[in-house]
Amino acid sequence: MNILHLTDPHLYGNADTQLRGIATDASFRAVLDQALDRFPDYQAMLVTGDLVQDDAGGYLRFRSILSQVDKPVLCVPGNHDLPDAMERELSVHPFKICGTHTIENWQFVMLDSYDPGHVGGRLVAAELARLDAALQKPGVHNMVCLHHHPTAMGSRWLDGVGLANSDEFWRIIDTYPNVEAVVWGHVHQIYEGRRGKVRLFATPSTGAQFLPGSDGYAIDLRPPGYRHFRLHADGGIESQTHWLEAVAAKKTA
Ligand SMILES: [Fe+2]
Repeated sequence: MNILHLTDPHLYGNADTQLRGIATDASFRAVLDQALDRFPDYQAMLVTGDLVQDDAGGYLRFRSILSQVDKPVLCVPGNHDLPDAMERELSVHPFKICGTHTIENWQFVMLDSYDPGHVGGRLVAAELARLDAALQKPGVHNMVCLHHHPTAMGSRWLDGVGLANSDEFWRIIDTYPNVEAVVWGHVHQIYEGRRGKVRLFATPSTGAQFLPGSDGYAIDLRPPGYRHFRLHADGGIESQTHWLEAVAAKKTA
């Protein structure tokens, strides 16, 4: 099955507002259009946080931009989200906030790592317990999604604002053999790694990117992007990140 991962759109109520030199609304729409054009047969879309940039009006824009979409849009909150407004505005089909969602023999476990007042994240005890319970479901392969990175990115400033209690997270993940992947946003860059047999994926923002490996906050000039997953019934995963200009260039080629 085909799954799309679009993350960190950072929308505002006003479509013209820019963040780090990019009009986030137009950028998100361009990425979405190209993703849907290229993978029209996708089965669900993952959006791992920072749907808005501290602006509740951004959720109306998110809904409006995705009004053409009828397949599940599975969301988790990020540090720039406003959980009450997010819940209020996105409690309608096709949106789903956190929870779990099963398609064929894959289960998507969507975790809430929002930590009020902090840029970094934390999974509260109830959320860790929910993860543990979800992974007990028999007969499924699991993709676990959250906003904050649960592993070091090799970037000093970003690694100070990751998942604070990643030890507790991995203690649960390591217990279960049926976790195939952990997927996050927040870091605005490509990351692909492994922890044992678990595949690890971070995806660029649909807006501006951060410079990989940087000690301090720094913007990367790479274009907006998204990720595509092809998930196989045997638990296998193929994945590729697509950059906006690369997709555009291919279309005109
Ligand atoms: Fe972000």
